[in-house]
Amino acid sequence: PRVAVLFGGMSSEHAVSLVSATSVIANIPRDRFDVVMIGITRDGEWRLFEGDVEKLAGSGWESDPSNRPAFIAPDSRVHGIVALSPDGRIETIRLDVVFPVLHGLNGEDGTVQGLLTLARIPFVGCGVTASAVCMDKAITKALCDTYQIPQAKWETVRVSDLKDNGKAVVERLEAHLGYPLFVKPANAGSSVGISKAADRETLYKAIETAATHDRKLVFEEAVNGREIECAVLGNEEPVVSCCGEIKPCNEFYDYNAKYLAGRTELVIPASLPKDVSERVRQTAMRVFRLLGCRGLTRMDFFALEDGTVLLNEPNTIPGFTSISMYPKLFEAGGISYGELLETLLRLAME
Ligand code: DAL
Ligand code: MG
Repeated sequence: PRVAVLFGGMSSEHAVSLVSATSVIANIPRDRFDVVMIGITRDGEWRLFEGDVEKLAGSGWESDPSNRPAFIAPDSRVHGIVALSPDGRIETIRLDVVFPVLHGLNGEDGTVQGLLTLARIPFVGCGVTASAVCMDKAITKALCDTYQIPQAKWETVRVSDLKDNGKAVVERLEAHLGYPLFVKPANAGSSVGISKAADRETLYKAIETAATHDRKLVFEEAVNGREIECAVLGNEEPVVSCCGEIKPCNEFYDYNAKYLAGRTELVIPASLPKDVSERVRQTAMRVFRLLGCRGLTRMDFFALEDGTVLLNEPNTIPGFTSISMYPKLFEAGGISYGELLETLLRLAME
């Protein structure tokens, strides 16, 4: 089968996608899959890239002479990519499956999934609804509350309400959540735009930062817990990995700790009492099914001292380098990175 890997994207996680996609492209079993690479610039230009995969890092791919304008058309007759050949002809490259290795807005949020659905091209991961729901932290949390999934205390506020009625809203948040608390853009990933506020002054700063990313914010009580993640894989009968623990090198597992500092430790399997790790795994499976996930999702939790397990959030296209948590969790269970990629591609084509 021929697989197209989509990378980059109009997202604050563009650079993270380049890193994930470099690993994915290098490790898809070439004896079984033909790989084509489609890069999406930060401005949303789609390009068929035929250069060296090493050029993704640092955005070197963008100026590669091999690049050609290319599109996936929302027309069910095409079943592939429409590309402009160097002599100006229109060429169609049939695709059997697409792996959108895109994080954040315009890629992980149901938009690309909608395009691929219209084009009738199978793709790895969640469909439109689950992608959109899981991208929006306020909607995910509201839904999970209705399903009685334990979560930290939270509230969502529109930036416009803060402008009109800021002091009253802030006083309400302080009374409800207390300090420290987290301020997050509702739609973003990799902790972009997230800050931890310790008092009113830092809260106002945190709001300003988050508001540059979204018109809707999520405020969350800062719980004192360990960061535990587990991975779900499958369609109708998913499997769930063991638990892993993140030991961040910073105050919290922020963008720096995730990608720049390189000192964050992953402990796999996490050393947890059996009943706690089982609760994490069962909740992960439950949330996967309730939210209608498909293919893959990494479920992030907080485990408290007293054994309580709180859902932090699902990530439908989690970081996917060979040393990222999602693949590492399955590797611990005996599924290699290459096998995992093949399984995901096969699940997409089911
Ligand atoms: N949003 C990042 C890529 C993650 O969840 O791993
Ligand atoms: Mg996330």
